[in-house]
Amino acid sequence: MSENKLPTIAILGGTGKEGPGLAMRWASAGYPIIIGSRQEEKAQATAAELRQKLKLENIHGMENSAAARQADLCVLTVVQAAHQSALEGLKEALQGKILVDATARVDFRDPRPPAPPSAARLAQNILGEGVRMVAAFQNVPAHALKKNPGQPMDADVLVCADDVEAAEQVIRLAEAGGMRAYYAGGLDNALVVEGITSLLISINQHYGVKTASIRVTGIDHS
Ligand SMILES: NC(=O)c1ccc[n+]([C@@H]2O[C@H](COP(=O)([O-])OP(=O)(O)OC[C@H]3O[C@@H](n4cnc5c(N)ncnc54)[C@H](OP(=O)(O)O)[C@@H]3O)[C@@H](O)[C@H]2O)c1
Repeated sequence: MSENKLPTIAILGGTGKEGPGLAMRWASAGYPIIIGSRQEEKAQATAAELRQKLKLENIHGMENSAAARQADLCVLTVVQAAHQSALEGLKEALQGKILVDATARVDFRDPRPPAPPSAARLAQNILGEGVRMVAAFQNVPAHALKKNPGQPMDADVLVCADDVEAAEQVIRLAEAGGMRAYYAGGLDNALVVEGITSLLISINQHYGVKTASIRVTGIDHS
């Protein structure tokens, strides 16, 4: 990754709800984006749709492993049921990269906290130590990401990683996307962050909204 050039971000499973939301935020901030999918044509269709929506050219589409190979940093937004199988298929392509896992293993029909270990720890176990795992964005609703993508968001991001330098890179990325982000401990803490998603889904359901999110207080930003 060169000092002056923004890193290329691949969003693996980026054709669903969360992936395009993140893509829109980072594309609006000038990052080169690759939408990944199991099918190249589907990735290209989502990329074309986002280019048209944002009037930007910096979004392309590729099959997931090609996207991972081409990128400096990857973000995983495959549907939670495919978490393990997707990672097994992407193991080689992800070696040497930072992988940000946005997975929250919560069933929206019956929200409750997932069992340990965290999805990101499971991912690290599958991928091995050659991948720099970071867990983030599990509490950021797709609906909120897609609203005014060039503007700051009313949502904070908890970033968990054993590799603090990788976490710092992801914090900068979240900030570039209009979010405030905080280092929140090691990969095992990401289990608690996934559990917060269970709280947020319950709040959404009770209050009839789609965008409940969290704020961290007590830190001076001045
Ligand atoms: N939705 C939210 O508001 C939200 C918020 C925070 C975190 N998250 C997390 O983000 C992740 C994605 O959520 P989502 O709501 O965006 O999911 P989604 O729309 O249901 O699915 C995302 C993508 O997963 C891919 N996929 C489906 N089955 C697959 C398989 N067997 N193998 C590999 N890829 C497969 C599909 O891409 P292709 O068919 O193109 O391959 C699909 O577009 C989840 O882990 C979720 O917990 C979601």
